Amino acid sequence: MALANPVLPDYKNCIDATQPDKTPINCCPPPVDPSRVKDFFPSATTVNIRKPAHSFEVGSDYYKKYTSAIIKMKNLSPSDPRNFRQQANVHCANCDGGYTQVGGPKLLYDVHYSWLFFPWHRWYLYFFEKICQNLIDDDTFTLPFWNWDAREGMQIPSIYNSGLTSPLYDCFRNPEHLPPTVIDLEWSFGDKPIDPEVQIENNLSIMYKQMITQSTTPSDFFGKAYRAGPAGDDPPYAGQIELTPHNAIHSWTGTSDDRSNAIDLGALYSSARDPIFYAHHANVDRMWTIKLNKLGGSNITDRDWLFTSFIFYNEEAKPVRVSIKDCLDNTKLGYKYEDVPIPWLDDSA
Ligand code: C2O
Repeated sequence: MALANPVLPDYKNCIDATQPDKTPINCCPPPVDPSRVKDFFPSATTVNIRKPAHSFEVGSDYYKKYTSAIIKMKNLSPSDPRNFRQQANVHCANCDGGYTQVGGPKLLYDVHYSWLFFPWHRWYLYFFEKICQNLIDDDTFTLPFWNWDAREGMQIPSIYNSGLTSPLYDCFRNPEHLPPTVIDLEWSFGDKPIDPEVQIENNLSIMYKQMITQSTTPSDFFGKAYRAGPAGDDPPYAGQIELTPHNAIHSWTGTSDDRSNAIDLGALYSSARDPIFYAHHANVDRMWTIKLNKLGGSNITDRDWLFTSFIFYNEEAKPVRVSIKDCLDNTKLGYKYEDVPIPWLDDSA
């Protein structure tokens, strides 16, 4: 059987990434030598449940745990790869030109706009959650998910908007879009005058369309192939959920009507600096589980996808190599999502 031909970033040589206004930014995480990295295979024996962010109140026990984990991450030494800013750097370097491809020094590597999108972000959240667990010494802790596909979840959840000094707050959010403003899941630079109830129903139709009507094949859902070599130069094509609502939620949250000042959630290089990023992506990841478990979808079977690997720093600040084939079953990673109602599916019958 032919060897797989996965695309790999050159982790040894992190370079400056590019901000939306084209100025370079150094967001390189501490360098790793791939030849010294150990492979990691998940084998969780207990399964924790990730719950909707809107189900938690400010000041609750959960809120205290979560904020204490984030404070501890922010207080780690700036050079510790588990430091909150370094975690954000991991995202920046992997998406805005921080790495070139192994064997293709002129080809930039990017985990967006292709079939790498879902699995890379799944692994990224996995290690982020492990780091939180480790810092608060509670291996049952889970990240919340921003349940933007349900009526009650269609605004910034209150735990992320509880005052300027909260570690879950971020000052670079669009002031027009703070609660109780209802999100527009296909927002694109400019607020439409619309009744919030109508917006909510529109959002449910968007979810149905993106998850079902437009995602009939694995490549519609996950995005197109991205392999090593010259083909990797063509921007591959994003999956339906990555395009909408994923991208729209980024822009809606972190950008004003003027694209050039997109920051934090609104721009790739900075998006993981906003703690809400991880809740946004938990819900993106939840869509993958819904596609497989409730909608009869299937994973990609191409070996170039299955054998694609990534390197992350784990909860002990050690670099580990992980593969897409080992993240397909989220219960092996030790988590699943609370089985909350899915209004765009349940109410559509
Ligand atoms: Cu790596 Cu929501 O983006």
